[in-house]
Amino acid sequence: MKQYTVAVLGATGAVGQEMIKILQERDFPVGKLIPLASARSAGKTLTFRGEEVAIREAGDEAFQGVDIVLGAAENDIAQRFAPAIVKAGAVFVDNSSAFRLDPKVPLVVPEVNPEDVSWHQGIIANPNCSTIIAVTAVNALNSIAPIRAMTASTYQAVSGAGAGGPVELMNQVEALSRGERCQPKVFSHQIAYNLIPQIGGEQLEGYTSEEMKMQNEGRKIMHLPQLKVSCTCVRVPVVRSHSISISCRFDVSVTVEQAREVIAKAPGCKLVDDLKNQRYPMPLDTSDQDLVFVGRIRPDLTDENGLCLWCCGDQVRKGAATNAIQIAELLVKE
Ligand SMILES: NC(=O)c1ccc[n+]([C@@H]2O[C@H](COP(=O)([O-])OP(=O)(O)OC[C@H]3O[C@@H](n4cnc5c(N)ncnc54)[C@H](OP(=O)(O)O)[C@@H]3O)[C@@H](O)[C@H]2O)c1
Repeated sequence: MKQYTVAVLGATGAVGQEMIKILQERDFPVGKLIPLASARSAGKTLTFRGEEVAIREAGDEAFQGVDIVLGAAENDIAQRFAPAIVKAGAVFVDNSSAFRLDPKVPLVVPEVNPEDVSWHQGIIANPNCSTIIAVTAVNALNSIAPIRAMTASTYQAVSGAGAGGPVELMNQVEALSRGERCQPKVFSHQIAYNLIPQIGGEQLEGYTSEEMKMQNEGRKIMHLPQLKVSCTCVRVPVVRSHSISISCRFDVSVTVEQAREVIAKAPGCKLVDDLKNQRYPMPLDTSDQDLVFVGRIRPDLTDENGLCLWCCGDQVRKGAATNAIQIAELLVKE
């Protein structure tokens, strides 16, 4: 089998570290791994398949001879290096939001629109983490009847803000337990014992940039250009796994039984829906694995053609690293 030279841009961060773990777990055909990060990390090492690999500072020349670049850095870094990556002939599977809505760039969730990988021109975007989890959960419903609109509220874990998020939560819990005050750095307010109903800056009529991703990216992934989504994104003091409450509205009635049946068979989903026995998706149960758990499926009492559900998924894995590596697997299959 052909072996590929794979670079991870942002190899030391929350998503980059997970990518390196998942490349090993899924036995991706990596001939050579090139971990790239900032000058701060250059010279440090990480372990890949039992061997120490040196981390290099990212620079345009680092992409020569690379087949696939897995992007795990912020927008400005992705934008800065994308031209060099494409020029070097590599495919850039990027986790930032820099290229997601570019009409020349496919935006892919392999369980939903794997066919879109085929028209890439050197860049494929990985969607927003909450959007990946939501569309993986509702895509099967869309096969019964097109989804017209959704109302979603997200409960997003602190690790969604990068490797510094969990450290800040733990530091604050410890400081407060000693009776000390805590100074927020990663988040705009204290996150310990609190909820912060803002992720991203204001983008449109009081909605934040993170909230608008659910509509804009959801439309592109599910090929539903008219889809309307009202979303509220909330940072919660959970270490890992995002949870989302979703109400879907269709043009026709979809029963709870129909929904359970298709979700139970949907790729990437696990139906966990037994309220009487207190079984439903929870972030502790969905962490460090790749399935999106879906439950609490019930009629929407405000709309006869609506259904409500609750889903949870590991946003560092399925919401970022695993989804990107699944895209790379589609590329290799091509
Ligand atoms: N965390 C999540 O759950 C999640 C989910 C979905 C998507 N994403 C997206 O994935 C990307 C990475 O997020 P993250 O949470 O992993 O962030 P992070 O933990 O803060 O990691 C950022 C990475 O970028 C590297 N970096 C910073 N400046 C650089 C430079 N000048 N050149 C090369 N590399 C540089 C850092 O290297 P140093 O260690 O050397 O600074 C680090 O490896 C972001 O676009 C984020 O929006 C994150």
